[in-house]
Amino acid sequence: MSERFNKNIEQMKASASMVIMAKAKRIKAQDPEIIDLAGGEPDFDTPARICEELFRQVKAGYTHYTVGPGLPELREKIAQKLNTENGCSYHPDGVIVTPGGKYSIYMAVRTLVNPGDEVMYLNPGWVSYPSIVEAAGAVPVDVNLRYEENYLIREELLEEKYSEKTKLLIINYPNNPTGRVLTPKEAEVIRRFLLRHKDVLLLSDEMYERILYDDNCNVSPASMPEIADRVITVNGFSKSVAMTGWRIGYMATTPEIGAMAGKLFQHTISCVSGFIQKSAIVALDCQQEIEEMRKIYEQRRNLFVNGLNQIPGVHCTMPEGAFYAWTDFDIPGMDSNQVCEFILEQAKVVGVPGISYGEQQGSRMRFSFATSTDQLAKAVENISAAMAKIKCEKKEG
Ligand SMILES: Cc1ncc(COP(=O)(O)O)c(C=O)c1O
Repeated sequence: MSERFNKNIEQMKASASMVIMAKAKRIKAQDPEIIDLAGGEPDFDTPARICEELFRQVKAGYTHYTVGPGLPELREKIAQKLNTENGCSYHPDGVIVTPGGKYSIYMAVRTLVNPGDEVMYLNPGWVSYPSIVEAAGAVPVDVNLRYEENYLIREELLEEKYSEKTKLLIINYPNNPTGRVLTPKEAEVIRRFLLRHKDVLLLSDEMYERILYDDNCNVSPASMPEIADRVITVNGFSKSVAMTGWRIGYMATTPEIGAMAGKLFQHTISCVSGFIQKSAIVALDCQQEIEEMRKIYEQRRNLFVNGLNQIPGVHCTMPEGAFYAWTDFDIPGMDSNQVCEFILEQAKVVGVPGISYGEQQGSRMRFSFATSTDQLAKAVENISAAMAKIKCEKKEG
């Protein structure tokens, strides 16, 4: 008798971030004092002119199928953005517009790997990479970066996990959950790794590329000429333009890989809604709105992270990009799941445990600071009180 379900899907774990987001919504409905810092989404509304474009298009009847991999003017504009802003040299034929960046990652992995191939990814890292790799029947191989080294990518760490079966390396900067950006030195480590291993491709997830603080810059690996044709860049509109619910993102690659991925796209998605693509064209011009949101994230980051760092036993390295505070709790005997439960029960703050991002050791949590300063200030106050309590209990005990 055949198996009831596809084995790869059956063994897949639920998305930890989605489970926690749902839980946070549930408990907040019962207790309004709960502060939800679990979700990975901007609290801003989508800029008005993007929404207006959508209304205009729908009213004008632009509601039919569009040409598969994306409207030519959008693909052109994306290629132009990547080439002028990020220093890449993509051809519009290698750009595919997908329902969210997540589907771009799935499609790239599905197009490139065969069962048994290995895909390396960095930990701590976004929750969906290993599951997407498993869904394609390939083997996820984690490269564990070290907290003590500020998660620096080192050549030895990559080499330790490389094998003849390695097909793809996935990286994500600015990083979810650590908020780190890729330094030029690390980009060089990646470049050398690819030059040593000519069959390996690189998927660079740059979803938070526009959310950068201080003088930090985003390095797009596809800007490095010697490896450019082996880099698939994934990006989107969800985070930088507050368009999570619109479900639109893109991948950029060579026309050859694009054509191959395009076949899977035709048979599974057909096209992203035309009116959403038209709105995305406007979104690519929303520099000012993006900058306004970024500045507000920066103020929130300063308030929240400085606040956390005032609390004895709590440490958070200042995020360089994205909107997450990756926070270390010095509570001996508690793993990240237990810290998360403790912070929820005692401080009424919901975050995501480090283990969800593959961080096996330590007691770290990810908090999103894409919420109001009032909520963030209250969260700091509550966490401070919870930590003071645990210290007192320890002394008394
Ligand atoms: C690192 C990273 N990549 C990709 C995505 C997917 O973004 P979307 O599918 O909304 O474009 C997310 C969303 O949380 C993310 O954090």
